[in-house]
Amino acid sequence: MTSKSVDHSGLTFRRDYFGDLKAWQALVDLLKDTFDIDIGPLQQMGGPDSSSMPFGWFTDDGRLAANLSAFSMPLVINGRRVNAAAFQSGAVRPPWRGRGLYRDLTRKALAWCEEKGFEAIVLYTDKPSLYEPYGFHSLSLHAYSGKVPAASKAQTPARRLDPLEKADFELLRMALQTRAPVSNVFAVRESAAMFLINTQLDPGVRISWIEQERAAVAWKMETPGHFTLLDVVSDNIPSLAAIMGALEIEAERVDVLFCPDKLGWSGEAKPLETHTQLMIRAPAEIAFDRPAMLSPMADF
Ligand SMILES: CC(C)(COP(=O)(O)OP(=O)(O)OC[C@H]1O[C@@H](n2cnc3c(N)ncnc32)[C@H](O)[C@@H]1OP(=O)(O)O)[C@@H](O)C(=O)NCCC(=O)NCCS
Repeated sequence: MTSKSVDHSGLTFRRDYFGDLKAWQALVDLLKDTFDIDIGPLQQMGGPDSSSMPFGWFTDDGRLAANLSAFSMPLVINGRRVNAAAFQSGAVRPPWRGRGLYRDLTRKALAWCEEKGFEAIVLYTDKPSLYEPYGFHSLSLHAYSGKVPAASKAQTPARRLDPLEKADFELLRMALQTRAPVSNVFAVRESAAMFLINTQLDPGVRISWIEQERAAVAWKMETPGHFTLLDVVSDNIPSLAAIMGALEIEAERVDVLFCPDKLGWSGEAKPLETHTQLMIRAPAEIAFDRPAMLSPMADF
């Protein structure tokens, strides 16, 4: 890395500012203005991930001109537990772009990860060239598609959960605390805050509770007959047949948006078509044992 300069005139640097509600609101506004994403509801859902370490440059009137947040995102990759961090909420408001602010924040976030001893860092981006100079590589991601398994008849059907309703939220929060990774090939081990906010960001996502399996299932049915499984939160992942039996779904086709190694079902792996890439910075190159992707409920 070369020692390029940064112009932060008129701005004040702050880190670890999530305890200050005004500063948190400044981040909510920055992300709304930059990405049209509203992370405001997170405050009613237990707040941001407690490991979060935001780095930001603030204006005198309390607006956030530039931000990059890091947080702990424990992963499993090819059966191995990886103590990973993730970067998110990277944005600079247009008047402050091109001054080196993002480079400055990237370096500060990388130094924090180094200090904390994280083994790897992951991020999503539509601008991979921003991160390649720092040793990040894009991962090749695959979803699975196939036939519906013969559904196992459930004792009791699943019921819908509303994560904004107190009792349902509590049930979901407990399940997230004790969850097993949804795949041994590639999955998050915790990241409850991401799951919770992702239930709110996409109105098509439904969450159902299967009491018999003590499992919360995130799924979609965007066109009739086409079932999409996004994630399963349980300490013992049920089979796809048990899940579909409990959901009482009539479908001809299933897409699974994570590696289905625990589902007792196999589909055809298909390259994921998205405009963003998942990048990783790790000491050694990562090649998945089987085609895989991170559940969209872990998107960050
Ligand atoms: C991308 C963005 C964060 C860059 O912020 P910035 O403060 O203007 O960036 P900097 O001035 O610190 O430049 C940092 C480096 O990124 C490069 N860069 C800037 N914009 C870039 C872009 N759109 N694509 C690729 N590289 C870019 C710069 O050339 C510079 O390279 P250098 O370190 O080799 O000199 C900002 O334009 C932005 O917020 N865009 C919209 C949101 C976004 O895309 N966020 C990142 C998604 S993960």
